[in-house]
Amino acid sequence: MLFQETDTLEEIWQAVKHELHRGALDIKHPFHWVNLGTVSGKFPSVRTVVLRKVNEELNFFVYTDYRSEKCSDLKSNPNATLHFYHPKKQVQIRVKTQAKLHFQDDLAKEIWKTIPFHRRSEYTGSQAPGTPISSSQEGWNQGDLENHFFCVLEFSPMEIEVLQLRREGHLRVMFSKEKDWKGAWLVP
Ligand SMILES: Cc1cc2nc3c(=O)[nH]c(=O)nc-3n(C[C@H](O)[C@H](O)[C@H](O)COP(=O)(O)O)c2cc1C
Repeated sequence: MLFQETDTLEEIWQAVKHELHRGALDIKHPFHWVNLGTVSGKFPSVRTVVLRKVNEELNFFVYTDYRSEKCSDLKSNPNATLHFYHPKKQVQIRVKTQAKLHFQDDLAKEIWKTIPFHRRSEYTGSQAPGTPISSSQEGWNQGDLENHFFCVLEFSPMEIEVLQLRREGHLRVMFSKEKDWKGAWLVP
């Protein structure tokens, strides 16, 4: 369990922040993989991505190919939701965010230098992710390693909603930036 009913809202907020930071730092933590939801025309679009970093301001960082559909979605609508679930602690966290795309800017260039050479081909494919191909091999065409599409997505949180499952009754809390991250209990 991440928190219980006897915890104060401030204690819960600290526990939530701590757990989100752990997710980025620990590759075995269930929050290391996050479901990213974007607005994609008439349908919501959801996919799993790796949580690379959470900074002091609680901004979330993800790496991707600038040509991917998630980037097109975020360019036309920066609203995005991050969804985390910790099966052992039985806790779900949903984060409403505003996304910023870093492509060919200073941040993307700095981080690109830290990407191991054997991982760089993930961002240099000669065709955009999602392009139809005639055989599975065609998709591995590495393209030009100098001309990459490495993009860092930065998600700034607006609202963080936490649901703690418990036999005795579930607990649900909402934290919002608008209210200086002071929490409020919700009907679960
Ligand atoms: C465990 C897991 C981790 C993934 N991590 C990433 C990631 O960090 N970045 C990324 O762009 N895609 C990642 N993917 C692939 C995405 O889920 C998705 O298939 C791909 O990015 C295309 O998504 P889009 O067409 O909606 O943009 C991951 C998939 C899985 C299953």
